[in-house]
Amino acid sequence: MVTICLGLEGTAHSFGAGVVSSDGKVMSNVWDMIRPQKGGIHPREAARHHSEKGPTIIRHALEEAGVTAQDIQLVAFSRGPGLGPCLRTTATMARVLALHLSVPLVGVNHCVAHIEIGCLESGFQDPVTVYVSGGNTQVIAFAGGRFRTFGETLDIAIGNMLDVFGRSAGMRFPAGPEIEREAQLGREYHALPYSVKGMDLSYSGMLTAARRLLSGGVPLPDVCFSIQETAFGMLAEIAERAIAHTKKRELLLTGGVARNSRLTEILSGVAVRHDVRFHRVSPSLAGDQGAMIAWTGILQYLAGNTVDVAESQVLPRWRTDEQEIRWRAM
Ligand code: ATP
Ligand code: FE2
Repeated sequence: MVTICLGLEGTAHSFGAGVVSSDGKVMSNVWDMIRPQKGGIHPREAARHHSEKGPTIIRHALEEAGVTAQDIQLVAFSRGPGLGPCLRTTATMARVLALHLSVPLVGVNHCVAHIEIGCLESGFQDPVTVYVSGGNTQVIAFAGGRFRTFGETLDIAIGNMLDVFGRSAGMRFPAGPEIEREAQLGREYHALPYSVKGMDLSYSGMLTAARRLLSGGVPLPDVCFSIQETAFGMLAEIAERAIAHTKKRELLLTGGVARNSRLTEILSGVAVRHDVRFHRVSPSLAGDQGAMIAWTGILQYLAGNTVDVAESQVLPRWRTDEQEIRWRAM
């Protein structure tokens, strides 16, 4: 029998609802994002956005999937990691729905969901994953029953670095797409700190140096080009080492920054050199959205891992490797 799951995602600036069936069909995936006019996102404002827009987004997701609320057999929500107020607002909606519909509730790890939706789309069994977004920069692989972080940023995430640089260059949030367009016009490479420490990397020095280049009169396209080449080169180096170390045969690129074509090109080159398969999660599934929560919710539910409403408190600091991944442990 096929199980239909409604997944709610609301860890940060986006709220999403997706409907996915246990045979792996994404039936709908609707989301909306708060875009501050200036400055970063304020957790409470994002949470207010989620509570205001959430019900409509959920209704649209059901309509698009061609189902009614009564067809939903499982409710999954992003339990962490993320911003407390956003997580709590989303969890409340999920709990109410699960209680109202008398269906099980599943609390999903957001980072794990970025990996699992990529595996669904690609058919990959056991990849090295490069997970890059506004809040995370990690190279992850499954080992000993958990998703282990092989390398990660020691300070700010790559997407955050791009967004903060973009803000100082007068770009709107999120700045990643505009930086990518500018970089395509860049001609001259200017050195920026290339900071790989063991398997970890750091982007804060690059942010400071890039801002200095810009205020020193280097044309914006050249700065963007230099940022991309340096930042993505660093990721390629640790991805390459993770492949060599784990001997895995698949390389997956996921998270919002996976929308970048130049990063895709660089990592697919790594895959060719190591003779491993490569997949970049398609743009509609790369960023934060509900389908990834719904799909991971199904995997988790089928492995017997649901949560009682009374014990479903959110986990803002939930690390990727804290969760025992029962559906892969065999
Ligand atoms: P997480 O909670 O997993 O950290 P997130 O809240 O940052 O995710 P995502 O939608 O996964 O949300 O990622 C958003 C990030 O992706 C932003 O930093 C944005 O600038 C970046 N981004 C989007 N498109 C591109 C692009 N074409 N090139 C580079 N970065 C991009
Ligand atoms: Fe995300």
